Amino acid sequence: MKKILTLCAIFMLVGCKDVGCEAILSNEEKNTLKEYGVLDYVEDDCKNQRTVQKMLHDDFNKDYIKSYCALNIKSTDHVNDLIVAGFSDKEITALLKLDNLDEERITRYKAYTDANTEKTMKDIVLAVNLDMDEEAYENIQIIDDESLDVLISKHYGLAEGYIPSDLVDITSVCQQGVDYSCSTMDKQQLRKEAAADYEAFASYAKEKKGYDIVSIASYRSYDYQKNLYNYWLNEKGQEYADTYYARPGHSEHNGGLAIDISVSEFPFNELDTFEDYEWIVETMKDYGFILRYPEDKVDLTGYGAESWHFRYVGKKLAKELYADGLTLDEYHALEAR
Ligand code: DAL
Ligand code: ZN
Repeated sequence: MKKILTLCAIFMLVGCKDVGCEAILSNEEKNTLKEYGVLDYVEDDCKNQRTVQKMLHDDFNKDYIKSYCALNIKSTDHVNDLIVAGFSDKEITALLKLDNLDEERITRYKAYTDANTEKTMKDIVLAVNLDMDEEAYENIQIIDDESLDVLISKHYGLAEGYIPSDLVDITSVCQQGVDYSCSTMDKQQLRKEAAADYEAFASYAKEKKGYDIVSIASYRSYDYQKNLYNYWLNEKGQEYADTYYARPGHSEHNGGLAIDISVSEFPFNELDTFEDYEWIVETMKDYGFILRYPEDKVDLTGYGAESWHFRYVGKKLAKELYADGLTLDEYHALEAR
């Protein structure tokens, strides 16, 4: 056994020529390779005949034979595209171990790799999946998805005039003249599941701690968001507006899944100074809400820290993201594509 293992190790290091090969290729496969004019190379110098064999049954290109022989891989997915993009064999091997590779972003991975030679392939893929290689609002993808975990960001926008299909009224809301910056909308609304879990949280906070949780803002229409963004744009300029307000179509409030909360009479924009703020964040996750724009993730989310803005994603995911310390952007960038 030990001898076999040693032979295998030598084989992996030096190829078939020096130690003799296990018969991997069928006669039919050999004939095909012969027709392509690469059989001798494969028989004499190929470290990974299995990769060649897999490619023969998938999308074989004789011009890439040296790369195939250099790659010890499980699946043939993306191999040719990565070779064409110009990645080295070592980089391809590393890339193919990742399960969040997006074939539509391969050329962007390459450009980002060239500009960031010190980064690992894992970091490159994560950064590009997070669209960190592009400017905000540069290459917007329109969302056609009402999943509770839908990503709404500076790169993913809702169609103009989008209205969620299942908005319902919420009752634990702020009072004008009492709560700072209370929503001026006639009624406050969230999508159905988010509304039910928000009200359950508000009841629990009252029962357990005596806190009156209030919504300062919840669903906002496309036009409302447009006016809000433009107001701050005129008032304080582009940088400020883009740091604290989403452009129309890009607000989670428009998606009916975001809520700005406070404790009654406590200024919402100072919520992180509330004595039991950590309890609020921790308990909100049990009801399906995550703190969406944390202070330590400003570079990833593209927004300044907002201690009051919570995003509904459902209870299971909220608990996972809280436990892993991940933003929704990272969750999507790490997901299999
Ligand atoms: N304040 C957040 C980013 C929004 O406008 O949706
Ligand atoms: Zn908000």
